[in-house]
This record gives sequence, structure tokens and C-alpha cells, in this order.
Amino acid sequence: MLTGHTGFKGTWMTMLLEQLEIPVVGYSLQPEKNSLFDRANRIGAIPELFADIRDSKSIDNFIDYYKPSIIIHMAAQPLVLESYQKPRETFEINVMGTVNVLSSAFSKDYMKVILVVTSDKVYKNNNFGVPFTEVDSLEGHDPYSASKVGTESVVVAWQVISGLSGGPKVFSARSGNVIGGGDIGKDRLFADLVEGWLSSRTVFIRNPSSTRPWQHVLDPLYGYLLAIEHVLLGEEVKAINFAPKSKSMSVKEIVDLAQSYFPIIVNFKDSNQVGNSNDRESKFLDVDPTLASIKLKWETQYSQKDSIIKTLEWWKNHALLGRNAHQLCKEEIEEFLNKINNNPLHPNNK
Ligand SMILES: NC(=O)c1ccc[n+]([C@@H]2O[C@H](COP(=O)([O-])OP(=O)(O)OC[C@H]3O[C@@H](n4cnc5c(N)ncnc54)[C@H](O)[C@@H]3O)[C@@H](O)[C@H]2O)c1
Repeated sequence: MLTGHTGFKGTWMTMLLEQLEIPVVGYSLQPEKNSLFDRANRIGAIPELFADIRDSKSIDNFIDYYKPSIIIHMAAQPLVLESYQKPRETFEINVMGTVNVLSSAFSKDYMKVILVVTSDKVYKNNNFGVPFTEVDSLEGHDPYSASKVGTESVVVAWQVISGLSGGPKVFSARSGNVIGGGDIGKDRLFADLVEGWLSSRTVFIRNPSSTRPWQHVLDPLYGYLLAIEHVLLGEEVKAINFAPKSKSMSVKEIVDLAQSYFPIIVNFKDSNQVGNSNDRESKFLDVDPTLASIKLKWETQYSQKDSIIKTLEWWKNHALLGRNAHQLCKEEIEEFLNKINNNPLHPNNK
């Protein structure tokens, strides 16, 4: 079962699972107009329910009906700037939504593993630029990050319950900023760049010197599946990072690279116009992926630069050349899976 299957990561995850021949059912709100889900015409592609994660009865009925043994819980209010406008809703969805999923899942004897997707923004960030490891302190500055720290606390509470009374295994995955074809998230750098490029409008860029661990969306998604398999095989994972090994790239470096490919007009100075100030978002963010690399033999297949180019190419093919979004994703997933040597999840290696 995948929650948040109509979102950016959820749509890619559903297609990745399909290509790996792993059946999945989805629970989310209705897809947004022009989202990847919408562009790739995914409605009805898998058994799905459009309902709220805050509705505990509805989740329980859904789980009872489909009896999944694994849950990937991604549904969330994931936007930092929106969390300042809607802090209460952000906490209700991200924290209580997770409580609803876990408390229902723990009442089913067929449930085996639950992965809760949180974020690299859960780490207490003093902006020193030192990569965070899984044992570092957590503290959220903005409401979104704080709500995801709350989500992490919920995960720990149910890990304790699982240890004391038995039940499914629960762990969290903390991944860095993902990019890839089809993301239309508000105030996300790539969505803004692509929108500006396609509409020939000036893009206002906030915090050009901020750094983020950019990675192609398929990299952490594949890592999530490896981690689930690991836990299913009886290994212990409590929380795990997914991020590129290389130093995080700055917003300015990414914009420069994008501009070398496509004619995008940007304005770096006018950060007030996008309703932001420097202290609303962290400045430096690096995440250490050593645990995933040792435990799961996971590493990113695409460099940060490749990920950026792949994202721009996807948009060029889809938005300018009119190519089918689903087909483009399928081709990328096939290419990605072919890159992985001895991929234990690939149908050919089952
Ligand atoms: N995109 C990133 O760079 C990034 C980085 C780190 C972590 N994450 C996390 O990954 C997950 C997916 O992010 P995304 O980028 O795909 O976001 P998205 O906004 O594209 O998708 C969010 C999904 O959650 C669902 N959802 C939201 N509120 C809901 C509610 N009340 N009830 C039921 N479903 C609800 C939406 O319908 C959608 O399917 C989130 O948990 C996010 O915090 C994202």
C-alpha cells in the first residue's frame, strides 16, 4: 500500500513498482491538475481511494479491504512555505496522519513492514554544512520540518510498541531534495525554473547560496524498496538517509547549469517578491548516506548534474515535443534499472 500515490514521488513510485511487477494499492487525495499523475493519465492505473489521511476510519477500512503486508507512507503536506500559512493542517496531516496509518496497521496480523517517509529537514541544522548522520539530533525550525520531526517521534513510539508487544517493523527514510520529470510543487526550485522557461516569465530565485542534496527521484525510491526488502529479511533499520555522496550543490550552481541548457530568465535579488526571507529555510544541508551504502549497497545512479539534466530533458520532451509523460517515465525507469548491476529487485533476477 502506498499513501500519497497521486503526488510527485508517489506517481514515480507506482510506475517503478509496476515495472518491478510488485502489486500496489494507493490511498491519497485527488490528484492535482497538471501534476505528473494527471499528465501521465494514471487515474485507475492501480486500485486506489481518494480520501484523507486524517480520516482514521477510512484508512482502517482500506487496509481491511486490501490487506497489504507492506505500507509505504508518503502522504504529507510537504511544502515548507505552505507550512507557514497552514501550520495546524501541516501537523494534523503529517503527524496525526502517520498515527492513523500506524495504529491501523498494528491491528492487522498480516502486516509486516511500514516505511514512513520523512525528510532530511528533520535534522537540527546549525548551518555548519556538516553532513548529518542518522544518530544526529532532530529539531525542526519551520512548521514543515517540525511536523516531520513529530512524524519521526511517532515512528519511534511504534518501534517501542513493536519491540514490547510484537507487530510489524517500522522505520523512517530521510531523503534529500528530489528532482525529476513532472514535479509541479509550489515554490520548488525546479518546478519554478521549468514554469518560467516554458512561459518565458522571469523566475525569482530565493537564497541562491543555499545548498541542498539534490538527487534524481528514482534513486531514493529504489533505496526505499531495498530498505524494505532488508527489513523483510529480518535486518534492523530504524532510520536511514538517502542522499548523494557528493557535496550538496548550491541553488546558484543549479540555475547556472539549467541556463546553459535552456533560455531561463532569473532574478536572484528580489527574494521579497516570493514572500520569503533567509531565515525561513535552512542555508546549508548535507546528508550522509554511508549507512544506506553499507547496509543496502545503495548509491545514487545519477550524479547531481545528471539528475538536473535528466529533469530538464524530461520537460523538453514532454512540454515542448509533446511526448507522452507515462512513456517518458517508463523509459527512464527501464534505463535506471538497467544501470543497476545485479539488481536483486529486478524481475529478471527474481
Ligand atoms: N519532493 C521532495 O524533494 C521531498 C524531499 C524529502 C521528503 N519528501 C517527502 O516525500 C513525500 C512525498 O512528497 P512529494 O514531493 O511527492 O509531495 P506531493 O505534494 O507531490 O505529494 C503529496 C501526496 O500526499 C497526498 N496528501 C497530502 N495531504 C493528504 C491528506 N490530507 N490525505 C491524504 N493524502 C494526502 C497528496 O494527495 C499527494 O498524493 C512527502 O512525505 C514529503 O514530505 C519529499
